[in-house]
Amino acid sequence: MPSRVSVCFRDSKSFHSFACFFSAFLYVHSFETEDRLRIRITDAKHKRWEIPREIIPRQNNTLDSNLAHHHSEQQGLVLSLPNSDLTFTLLNATPFGFTVSRRSSGDAIFDPETFLVFKDQYIQLTSSLPGEKRASLYGLGEHTKKSFKLVPNETLTLWNADIASFNPDVNLYGSHPFYMDVRKAGTTHGVLLLNSNGMDVTYDGDRVTYKVIGGVIDLYIFAGPTPNLVLEQYTELVGRPAPMPYWSFGFHQCRWGYRNVSDLKGVVAGYANAGIPLEVMWTDIDYMDAYKDFTLDPVNFPPTEMDKFLASLHQNGQKYVLILDPVLAGISINSSYATYTRGMKADIFVKHNGSPYEGVVWPGPVYFPDFLNPATAEFWGNEIKMFREILPFDGIWLDMNEASNFNTTSPTPNQFSPFDDPPYKINDAGVRRPIENNTLPPTALHHGDVAEYNVHNMYGMLESKATNAALVSLTAKRPFILSRSTFVGSGKYTAHWTGDNAATWDDLAYSIPSILNSGLFGLPMVGSDICGFARNTTEELCRRWIQLGAFYPFARDHSAIDTTRQELYLWDSVAATAKKVLGLRYQLLPHFYTLMYEAHTKGTPIARPLFFSFPQDIQTYDISSQFLLGDSIMVSPALKPGAISVDAYFPAGNWFDLFNFSNSVTAPEKGEYINLPTPADHINVHVQEGSIVALQGEAMTTEKARETGFHLLAVVSESNQSHSFGQVFLDDGESVEMGGGEGERWSLVKFHARKVGDMVIVGSEIENGEFAMSKKWVVNKVTILGMDKSQKGMSLGGTKMEGGRKMKPSTVRTNVVNGNGKFVVFEISG
Ligand code: NOJ
Repeated sequence: MPSRVSVCFRDSKSFHSFACFFSAFLYVHSFETEDRLRIRITDAKHKRWEIPREIIPRQNNTLDSNLAHHHSEQQGLVLSLPNSDLTFTLLNATPFGFTVSRRSSGDAIFDPETFLVFKDQYIQLTSSLPGEKRASLYGLGEHTKKSFKLVPNETLTLWNADIASFNPDVNLYGSHPFYMDVRKAGTTHGVLLLNSNGMDVTYDGDRVTYKVIGGVIDLYIFAGPTPNLVLEQYTELVGRPAPMPYWSFGFHQCRWGYRNVSDLKGVVAGYANAGIPLEVMWTDIDYMDAYKDFTLDPVNFPPTEMDKFLASLHQNGQKYVLILDPVLAGISINSSYATYTRGMKADIFVKHNGSPYEGVVWPGPVYFPDFLNPATAEFWGNEIKMFREILPFDGIWLDMNEASNFNTTSPTPNQFSPFDDPPYKINDAGVRRPIENNTLPPTALHHGDVAEYNVHNMYGMLESKATNAALVSLTAKRPFILSRSTFVGSGKYTAHWTGDNAATWDDLAYSIPSILNSGLFGLPMVGSDICGFARNTTEELCRRWIQLGAFYPFARDHSAIDTTRQELYLWDSVAATAKKVLGLRYQLLPHFYTLMYEAHTKGTPIARPLFFSFPQDIQTYDISSQFLLGDSIMVSPALKPGAISVDAYFPAGNWFDLFNFSNSVTAPEKGEYINLPTPADHINVHVQEGSIVALQGEAMTTEKARETGFHLLAVVSESNQSHSFGQVFLDDGESVEMGGGEGERWSLVKFHARKVGDMVIVGSEIENGEFAMSKKWVVNKVTILGMDKSQKGMSLGGTKMEGGRKMKPSTVRTNVVNGNGKFVVFEISG
């Protein structure tokens, strides 16, 4: 049982124009797990808006029956659990106070000041930090940032808005009131304020202050103590990231402004002729009839032509994704439009003053489906089903779901509500504009009586949830959904892209912090528009962008209407580089996919900040221009025009160039910046000693790549004692579940390698070998990096992947086909 303490507290200071007041609070804290502490503060007398569990399902467990209590004269009531590193102290403070600290170190990790404001439309809570040198903070998005690490003296506004992401530092499409705090020697914890209302969070180095315009204080502290564990604990609460189909890790091409079906065909042919892999072709709003969802433009994208086009894509093993503006583009108000008529009949639109609220999006006047209403999910699913019978698309792109509105409905004086003019103005758009700007009015109602004011930030998440459910029930396969707007828990349903960037060098660099942030928010399948969305790109920028974008978890080239075309085959130098970098991406597909499995089961991002693998190396805390794929592949892109070299940070150890195994870098124990050449056609991608990566062959589609043999890249360490590890997850790439269940549908192969005398021993173990056994997965090449001259051979033992059968080492004959003392390739025969 949670401990309940009613605290009567007097707000002794006045805040802005607010008067002092007296109120009673219901305050509850609970150890929900050994690593998760929840503190909830609400009004004891009046019901306030709180995110219902139906909207964000989360477990409601508690271990409080095992709590140890003791009173300390100096401090107050101290609560702890036998196996938890978190200690909760209810301070002997006036009027009220608590602290969450780490038992192992005594470090206060959430340390609120006793001054707390709790009013109807304003909550203010400040937690003290030990200063920016001792606490590095990450998260609190979505924003475009130059620095991944939060920089003191910033205000982070959370209010979902259709603001182009080429605007740094202002609120964008998603709201995630979650941060990670990395302390001494990498000890990390996480903090979530589960609240859907608009807020400003200010960070000034030694304090973080929440200024929230509604809801309650519902704080979750995640103990970590590593970054990986924080995300495991965070996604355990809010939902693990959705598994993505294998094909979605291929390369995607999109543009707003494709004119007709032959334009689309020309692009597909352009990629094929250039020999650049293209997995997925997309259409933006151009395909629709007058921008109405679930329709096709009868002149430029007629159903029969589109049907043939999709059939040829599918014939080639390629896919097709289309846009829906379900939220935003809304439903065109037109009685000859069947979707609209059905929507009216089902009564599923957001209401304002008793009727469906009318906004303006691409089609002109629109209504907005109300995804809080369960009937809307049914309506929406049915529309998707009917449209998929006309056009068998493979995935859905959800745009404009903040919800964006080209109109702003200002409050009318005679119907004025407190929601129309909250006493505290959050810094919407960086100019404290009224929150109704370009979205639904705060007094619009969802599901009968729930004010937009409270649920605004969840619109895109609820739409993603309904779309995900619709696709699962329709296809019985793993859905691919890409949503612009997100909230806490969205990762369970959708992938994300970073919205409307611009074709500038700054935007190229911003894409790294944006992608890393998305990973922290439980949205690991993320990318930025490659070559830039707004403005005209250039050959050099597009070349550098595909070099970086080839290593985004989600790799899509997308551009705005009226910009110059930027398909990768249009410039020879871009095409050549694209073949090279996408070639490596396709070889790495099993690795990307295994990282997806790790994300889905543990919440770990696919693209990770360096400090995830090197938490003790404080130099990694400030890095915003490099990232890791998994724990050991490091991407160090060129981000400046005219660059011929790049200063890349290398944590301690041996690193090998993934394009050319013989180029290696050795960083000293303290790590160091190393200047590396980055000729026009090259990006630096390195793999660290101690890891084993399963690669497959290059191909024009992921389907073909999956038919190639495996190439095991084992990077052994100098020291004879150390082992190298890696794993690969295998399944059909499209089942709704990824892993789990009885295990007959998947296998996990764990590899290990080490030097023993003059041999390198490579071994493996399989979890659920039956699935691998039923497939023809074969390791036909092993490359060992990090060999020294004394190593003469390799022994491959344990469980070989082929058929999952146990093989005696002697049954595998290996031939050294290339070796220079640093790396040796073995080709396996027999
Ligand atoms: C806004 C989206 O962010 C962009 O990607 C898309 O091209 C346009 N809407 C047009 O649909």
